[in-house]
Order: sequence, then C-alpha cells, then structure tokens
Amino acid sequence: MTASNAYVITGASLAGAKAAETLRQEGFAGPVVLIGDETERPYERPPLSKDYLLGKAERESIHVHPASWYAEHDVDLRLGTRVTGIDPAAREVTLADGSRVGYARLLLATGSSPRRLLVPGADADGVLYLRRVADSDQIKAALATAARIVVIGAGWIGLETAAAARAADVEVTVLEAAALPLLRVLGPEAAQVFAGLHREHGVDLRFGVQVSEITSSGGRVRGVRLADGSHVQADAVIAGVGITPNTQLAEAAGLAVSNGVVVDARLRSSDPDIYAAGDVASAYHPVLGKHIRVEHWANALNQPQTAARAMLGQDVAYDRVPYFYTDQYDLGMEYAGYVEPGGYDHVVFRGDAERREFIAFWLAGGRVLAGMNVNVWDVNDAIQALVRSGKPVDTGRLADPGVPLDQVTDG
Ligand SMILES: Cc1cc2nc3c(=O)[nH]c(=O)nc-3n(C[C@H](O)[C@H](O)[C@H](O)COP(=O)(O)OP(=O)(O)OC[C@H]3O[C@@H](n4cnc5c(N)ncnc54)[C@H](O)[C@@H]3O)c2cc1C
Ligand SMILES: NC(=O)c1ccc[n+]([C@@H]2O[C@H](COP(=O)([O-])OP(=O)(O)OC[C@H]3O[C@@H](n4cnc5c(N)ncnc54)[C@H](O)[C@@H]3O)[C@@H](O)[C@H]2O)c1
Repeated sequence: MTASNAYVITGASLAGAKAAETLRQEGFAGPVVLIGDETERPYERPPLSKDYLLGKAERESIHVHPASWYAEHDVDLRLGTRVTGIDPAAREVTLADGSRVGYARLLLATGSSPRRLLVPGADADGVLYLRRVADSDQIKAALATAARIVVIGAGWIGLETAAAARAADVEVTVLEAAALPLLRVLGPEAAQVFAGLHREHGVDLRFGVQVSEITSSGGRVRGVRLADGSHVQADAVIAGVGITPNTQLAEAAGLAVSNGVVVDARLRSSDPDIYAAGDVASAYHPVLGKHIRVEHWANALNQPQTAARAMLGQDVAYDRVPYFYTDQYDLGMEYAGYVEPGGYDHVVFRGDAERREFIAFWLAGGRVLAGMNVNVWDVNDAIQALVRSGKPVDTGRLADPGVPLDQVTDG
C-alpha cells in the first residue's frame, strides 16, 4: 500500500474550514479532505446566540465560505460523515460506514459539546441546548411562543440567550450555581456589571441555587424545581452549563489528552503527524508559559492557520493573546488576556462602570494579565500589547482615561 499524501481535517466547523483555507493559501497542492458530522457546511457559532437568534441575520450569512468555495479550492468536503477512529500506525482514520481514509497529516478540529443536565426530568421536551444551527432555530421557535423561560447557567450562552429572550418580550429567570454570572472568567468585580445589566432588562437572576429536577406534564417541560423545594414555571428551559472538548478520538488513539488534546506551540500532538486546533486543543502558549485551552471564536479562527502552516513544515508558533467578545442588549465588549480563576490580585477600572463605558484590567504583581473594554472601542490592540509586554504598570495612570494606554508602563 502506498502512503497517502492527503491532509485530513476532522471537524468541519470554523477551525477545520480555516485550516483547509490556509493549506491552499500556502500552496499545498495535494488532497485536502475535510470531514464533518454536521450536514450544514462550516459555519460560525457566535450569531447563533445573537443576530441569527434575534432574526437579524440570515442563515447564508453565518457560513465560513460560500458553497462553491470547496470545489473551487479542490477541498473534498464530506458532510454528515463521522470519524469513528484513528489508526496512527497505519495513518488512517475510520469513518462511520467502516471505510478508511489515509493521511500524511491529520488535524483534529473536533471542537466541543454541551454538557447535559443530569437531573431527573432533563429529557423532557422543551429542554434545549445551544451549539448547532438547528438548536438556534429551535430556541428561536420556542421564544416565539413562550411566555416565560428558565435559563440554567449564567455563562456566555445563558446570558446571551437571556438577552435574546428579553428582546422577544419573554419573561426570563436565570438559575446559576455560582454567586454571580461569569464568575470564573471575570471575578466578582466585573461580574457585577453583567448582573446589573440583566436586572435592568428585567431578568430574574437567582444565584447560588441548585437545580434538583425538571418538571413536566405529558412529557413537556413545565418548570424547574430547586433544591430548596421552590419551583420556577417555564414554557421552555435553555441549559448553558458549559462544554466538554471532543477528545474521544484522540484518547482512543493513545494521544496525550489533558483537558483537551495536548499540543505544543506548533499545535502538534504527542503523535508527530497529528495536530489539533480550536476548542479541542490544549496548546502550549509561549507568552503565558503554560498549556491553555480556549473556548472562543478568535482561537478557532486563528489557531488552525498556524496548525496548517506547521503541518506543511513551516517553523511557526501560536502565541496570540486570547481574545473574545460578547454583545448583550446595548452592551458590546471585548476581552483580551488570560486569567485563571482567582489568579489576579486586583482589578483596575478606567472609565465609568456605572454607565457601562469602561475598561477593566486584571493585574497580578503590578502587571496586566487581561483587559476588557466595555462600550469603549479601538483600544483592544493596545490592551493586547500591554498584556504581551508583561511590563509593570503605574495603576494611577492605568485608571486615568486621559493617559494613552501605551504610556502606562513603568519605564
Ligand atoms: C451559540 C454560541 C455562541 C458563541 N458566541 C461566541 C462569541 O460571541 N465569541 C466568542 O469568542 N466565541 C463564541 N462562541 C464559541 C465559538 O463558537 C467556539 O469557540 C468555536 O465554535 C470553536 O470552533 P471549533 O471549530 O474549534 O469547534 P466546533 O465549533 O465545536 O466544531 C467542531 C466540529 O467538529 C464536528 N465533529 C466533532 N467530532 C467529530 C467526528 N468524530 N467526526 C466528524 N466531525 C466531528 C462537530 O460536529 C463540529 O461540527 C460561541 C459558541 C456558541 C455555541
Ligand atoms: N461570547 C462568547 O464568547 C460566547 C458566547 C456563547 C458561547 N460561548 C462559548 O460556548 C461554550 C458554552 O457556553 P456556556 O455558557 O454553556 O458555558 P460557560 O462555561 O461559559 O458557563 C456555564 C455556566 O453554567 C453554570 N453552571 C454549571 N452547571 C450548572 C448547574 N447545574 N446549575 C446552574 N448553573 C450551572 C456555571 O457556573 C457557569 O456560570 C463556552 O465554551 C463559551 O466560551 C462563548
């Protein structure tokens, strides 16, 4: 048997499609096979909880490439096709129909899947999750008829869908186990801003609560019972309680896996012919000096471009500062940097947090680890430069909106 010269990408979403694009941009002329188990061609997920869910964006606007792009670039796009195994010794992947596809290099871009609620009754009709475009369609339909919904989890999915539900004039109760929304990511100082935002828009936020049961009648959801015995009625329940990376293929193939497929700064796994990028990758970050797994759009957009170049033998490393954004009601935000939960010593605010026009900076040892601009624009590149520099800052100057961000470091 002759060795395959194909570059195979498993997972046909943003990361997979961007890797295929980069392979062709870099002049790779061999076969590129992009395999995905969804039937929709690669699309972006952020609109699914924002403009697409709100009915402000058409389905055609969410795709990564036009339908004709794959044939035009000789990318063998196989949709509705699940990869069920990797044989690293034979350099082959197995598909659900039992057929095999050989590879010279393999990229895992398998992303992540929503965690499911494990409480009794969680399989009732009307208990919804949001990951795929069909999920967004289902939630949109539910919001069109529901009078009230319960959202479980005040993370990104929970808060963005709560905002969409309020826009549809639906009553919303958010049930969150932690003491504030987004607490693990933002810490209490900045998390307060999001609690205030949603309360002002009429959301009933309940923190520190434990869901014990989903109640239903005739198989259809009726509400949520809490551990204290209270009951919140709902015509639909939307659960956004986090995700888990899709590492099953990598684990079964014997690759190093620890909170994601472990890859180096070139995005190469413990097998030299297999790479990983996007939500599924736990990548060594040269600036931060540790492995991190990022569950955000910019990472799925940029990381596969580095992976594709590395697969072609280029000497590259992925060292971008992690970045993400959200839109909720009239609040637009960008965040750059990386902070472990509790991994900072204080937060400096520049601007007016009450009016929700500010930048928050997370510091440790006098250095900026991350910054979040809320309704303040054209500053995120400067925030990223501050994070990347690792230089100590003067916190008085950092807090002063009159001082340009490139003049806040000590010396
Ligand atoms: C509703 C929603 C809104 C979001 N909004 C934002 C936002 O505003 N800002 C932000 O920064 N991030 C946002 N994100 C996060 C962002 O979308 C993800 O980080 C990004 O989608 C990750 O891309 P990926 O290609 O790595 O993985 P995924 O998007 O998870 O894609 C992986 C693909 O691989 C497929 N697959 C998995 N296993 C197999 C297999 N064995 N065989 C074949 N195919 C397989 C999956 O079905 C899927 O199609 C949002 C996510 C969601 C769900
Ligand atoms: N704007 C953005 O960047 C954006 C938007 C949407 C989704 N996403 C991504 O999508 C993924 C999924 O988002 P998510 O919001 O589901 O995850 P998340 O990790 O952001 O938030 C999950 C929340 O659910 C809470 N929770 C967990 N179990 C619970 C329970 N049983 N009862 C009550 N609360 C519970 C957690 O404390 C946490 O606040 C993440 O990777 C996220 O980064 C990002």
